[in-house]
Amino acid sequence: MTKRQDIDRSGLTLILMGGWTAEAEVSRNSGKACYDSAIRKGWTAECLEVERDIAQQLITRKPARVFNALHGQMGEDGNIQGLLNLLEIPYTHSGVLASAIAMDKPATKAALSPHGIRFPDDLNITIDGDVMCIGHPNQPKFNAPVVIKPRNDGSSIGVMLIEDCTKLPPYSTWIQNPEQSAPQLMAEPMIPGRELTVAVLNGQPLTVTEITQSNHFYDYEAKYASGGSQHQLPADVPDHVAEQAMAWAALAHNVLGCRGVSRSDFRWDDDKDELYMLEINTQPGMTATSLVPEQTAYCGTSMDDLVDQLLEAAQCD
Ligand SMILES: Nc1ncnc2c1ncn2[C@@H]1O[C@H](COP(=O)(O)OP(=O)(O)O)[C@@H](O)[C@H]1O
Ligand SMILES: [Mg+2]
Repeated sequence: MTKRQDIDRSGLTLILMGGWTAEAEVSRNSGKACYDSAIRKGWTAECLEVERDIAQQLITRKPARVFNALHGQMGEDGNIQGLLNLLEIPYTHSGVLASAIAMDKPATKAALSPHGIRFPDDLNITIDGDVMCIGHPNQPKFNAPVVIKPRNDGSSIGVMLIEDCTKLPPYSTWIQNPEQSAPQLMAEPMIPGRELTVAVLNGQPLTVTEITQSNHFYDYEAKYASGGSQHQLPADVPDHVAEQAMAWAALAHNVLGCRGVSRSDFRWDDDKDELYMLEINTQPGMTATSLVPEQTAYCGTSMDDLVDQLLEAAQCD
């Protein structure tokens, strides 16, 4: 790709990372990797650890642009994007609306199901004190395995596979940090089969990666512990499955109006040959070995070039 001559790389580029959510450490790893790439590409970059005084920091430091390497609440849900819009500081990745919808899994389903993308059903979950119940009291009990997870977290934090719905753990199991707001949970039938993911860059789907792990579940540890999971790309799945996953990932990115890069996660029930989207991530992991840089590299765009492209395209809403 030819370099756009009109962009001045000498202005301060701040890489926002960290924060105070459970995904802070994952974000720092993304941020440091993107910082290294930005420096190699000639940007005048610095990392900024995000704390509650972020508005003051941005006003004082007046960056020419921001690389958003935040993950999770505040950084991925439209909040930081709104602040950057107000301050007229161009930023990488998606804007307020796409970020807010994508961060909230039921809102994502509501926005994308009418476009023909299949999601797991939402099961009704009631919480009474510490006692949780799935289904309606006057309906037959749902007795297949279910997944309970926060509606607006990432990195598999708080995702729990429950084999027997009649033995749900107490709600307090999900309250890791009493200082943070109580998690809002959702429940879905567990989709058996295989785990696939597709990155979309500038509206175009790249390829399909299959993720396998030795744990029976793709939890936080499997995602981030060394050797916790293996990536196969392109995934060894039938063409119609790969094509469906890529088409739905691009549709989701474009319907929500995502910018830069996104990554959509899928389950493929290979017995029934049914593909389900789980979610779209507007701030996917960005270390050199993360799923998105792996896919761009496979398609001929190195990690450094990816960061460079995202910075060149930085904008406000
Ligand atoms: N309904 C489901 N059926 C099977 N596995 C699921 C389901 N929901 C989540 N998972 C597993 O948990 C992981 C994390 O869930 P996901 O919905 O992608 O949330 P996040 O990545 O934001 O934490 C998925 O990658 C998948 O392995
Ligand atoms: Mg996910």
